[in-house]
Amino acid sequence: MIKFSNGNIHFRLFKNKSLGSDYIFELIHSKIDRNNLLSKSTVLGLATGESPKKIYEKLITCHDKEGLSFRNVITFNLDEYYPINPESQNSYHHYMFENLFKHIDIDPENIFIPNGMLELDAIPDHCETFEHKIEEFGGIDLQLLGVGSNGHIGFNEPGSVINSKTRLVQLDHRTRLDTAEKFGGLGNTPEYAITMGIKTILKAKKIVCMAWGTSKAQAISQLFNEGITDKWPVTFLKEHPQVELVLDEGAASLINPGFLKKKISLTNNK
Ligand code: GLP
Repeated sequence: MIKFSNGNIHFRLFKNKSLGSDYIFELIHSKIDRNNLLSKSTVLGLATGESPKKIYEKLITCHDKEGLSFRNVITFNLDEYYPINPESQNSYHHYMFENLFKHIDIDPENIFIPNGMLELDAIPDHCETFEHKIEEFGGIDLQLLGVGSNGHIGFNEPGSVINSKTRLVQLDHRTRLDTAEKFGGLGNTPEYAITMGIKTILKAKKIVCMAWGTSKAQAISQLFNEGITDKWPVTFLKEHPQVELVLDEGAASLINPGFLKKKISLTNNK
């Protein structure tokens, strides 16, 4: 692993997704373990998509083989399509139950995922309640994040503002194209989603963001440009004091090689 920092962001560069996922698994595992020992709860912010699947697999194995308990874990998911039935194969509800929740001992009452089935006029209250719930549990201890190919975090698409909270958003065309195959074509792909806002995400005590593969390289390279821009929402992470960005070589492939070389010579290369 190669470690380097750029401003507030601490990068961890791995040869491949599998090694990067092992690293993130260990961060989550040790946080839950430590809190369990102290009889404290752990509040996790969770992501969906392809990126976290290996991490969830490892958490399930750890639960099965080593008895890691999720009884004191509370989870808030970043987002959900709208409108979508939770039972639908493509809903993030379905994803979370299949890829994690049904395999572990989490209390269903401690699972919070935006509801993609509400009437339009019920959404603002739902979003406010979601924000309040996070506060009631003392805030998110560790927020796991993926990145969209257009630089979105959660479903905060380009144009999202730094003060945004949980809300209904319109999906970017590129985001819909990225997922169209799963929905059986663009015509069947939802146009909207409910997502935690940028502000909601930045309130987490710690953020661990992962990016695997060359399709994320352009978004990641924006973190090395000056400043923060709503054109690439991932750059809002520069505002947070505790972000780890975990990359594989593909996702890091557009970082200026001169910059990397200088950083690598300054750090341990294990
Ligand atoms: C989706 C989700 C994000 C996710 C991102 C990356 O649209 N809303 O939360 O992080 O896209 O997805 P993947 O991990 O499949 O590349």
